Amino acid sequence: MNVIVVGLGYVGSVAAAALAEAGHRVLGVDKEPRVIEALRDGRPLIHEEGLAELVARCMAAGRLEFLHTSEVDRLDQETGLVCVGTPGLPTGGPDLSQVREALRWLKARATGPLVVAVKSTVPPGGGLHLMRQELSDSRLEYVANPEFLREGRAVHDWFYPDRIVIGARDRKASEQVAALYEGIEAPRVFTDITSAEVIKYAANAFLATKISFINEIANLCDKIGASVDDVVAGISPDPRIGPLFLRPGLGYGGSCFPKDVRALDFISLVNGHNFELLRSVISVNNRQRILPVHALREVFGSLVGVPVALLGLAFKPGTNDVRESPALEIMRLLAEQGAEVRVTDPMVRWDDLPETWGARFHRDPMEALAGARAAILVTEWPQLVGLEWPRVREVMEEPHLLFDGRNALDPGLLVSLGFRYRGVGRPRVSSVEGQAPS
Ligand code: UDX
Repeated sequence: MNVIVVGLGYVGSVAAAALAEAGHRVLGVDKEPRVIEALRDGRPLIHEEGLAELVARCMAAGRLEFLHTSEVDRLDQETGLVCVGTPGLPTGGPDLSQVREALRWLKARATGPLVVAVKSTVPPGGGLHLMRQELSDSRLEYVANPEFLREGRAVHDWFYPDRIVIGARDRKASEQVAALYEGIEAPRVFTDITSAEVIKYAANAFLATKISFINEIANLCDKIGASVDDVVAGISPDPRIGPLFLRPGLGYGGSCFPKDVRALDFISLVNGHNFELLRSVISVNNRQRILPVHALREVFGSLVGVPVALLGLAFKPGTNDVRESPALEIMRLLAEQGAEVRVTDPMVRWDDLPETWGARFHRDPMEALAGARAAILVTEWPQLVGLEWPRVREVMEEPHLLFDGRNALDPGLLVSLGFRYRGVGRPRVSSVEGQAPS
């Protein structure tokens, strides 16, 4: 099939390359010249495992091409994918202006009938609305085709999805979109446009709810001296609960969960439904990221002049994305309270951060840790979890406070090395066996 992909962020660039790999002829367009230049050079701006190789291979095979939106004035493709952003508005609802713009752009250039699969996260009811407003007098057919790609694993997730959701009002259009995924083994869910939109939000909100739920259990464990690790081990063998998305810590970040949960709350309100549960999910998540600041205040009293190392900036390992990363909020709070903040991350580009609140960046984690009195593990990068902890103990200063914001470290080992260890919902371990923990 001949396919046009509009918007080449992490969803669009992966979709374009993966569809070309599957044998389709794909044109990818974006309005950002540097995105196009980077992809043409085989160096995508976003870090996605396997993407650069896939792009290079498909371009060399002649099935994948990238153009700036201004370079295209007519389109002969029969299928389009819209993969532009839908950022959150201050009200909580999503901003659909980029989707609207993409539909207009396609409409102005399509030379024949065009089935448009919208992968951007559009709120329930938004697709029908856009269709009526933008496409009523055109030969474009709107199909909701939400994506469930995880950042850092997006190429893998494209080829091995848990399901493919296609929401359309026309069976032929559904089948045309389904044909894009031929050869991929996964259940197909065919539905109407609005239900497909709800599926996307329900999936993200449910996963976010699991995370906030286990964080609340962890907070309770902290209060009563129980172990959340053991609780998870005890509940997750039940297939009705399962082991995934039960990792307690500093909560969820990224470009999807925070925005989509807020948007679902907003959309519910607008439609006359008070979705109380979501409000709690959001407030638990906001609270989690403040935990390390409380822990430091408890130990140091005032944080003025206290050297603190933040280990990790990305919202999760395997990506250089810092959108809604707990690290930014922690960095801001520590800096505001006068701490001397040093930050490390193996992949994030410091110069791209919108604000750094006077913190200093060190690519080498040992440099960030040298002389620090406290360290906070924010992102469980393997290279940070696997630091040489005896050496870290040597370069840090008293009281060697280590806040493990992802419960990714071994408390027994760290305490035996002389660290003062704090996890989330993990019992406090004493360095002298049998002695009451501090
Ligand atoms: C998510 C969804 O998984 C994906 O299906 C959707 O398309 C986009 O949003 P992503 O944002 O890439 O993907 O990250 P994910 O791996 O799901 O993690 C989201 C956040 O939750 C991260 O900040 C992660 O650290 C946190 N998390 C995840 C937890 O705190 N605990 C967990 O148990 C799991």
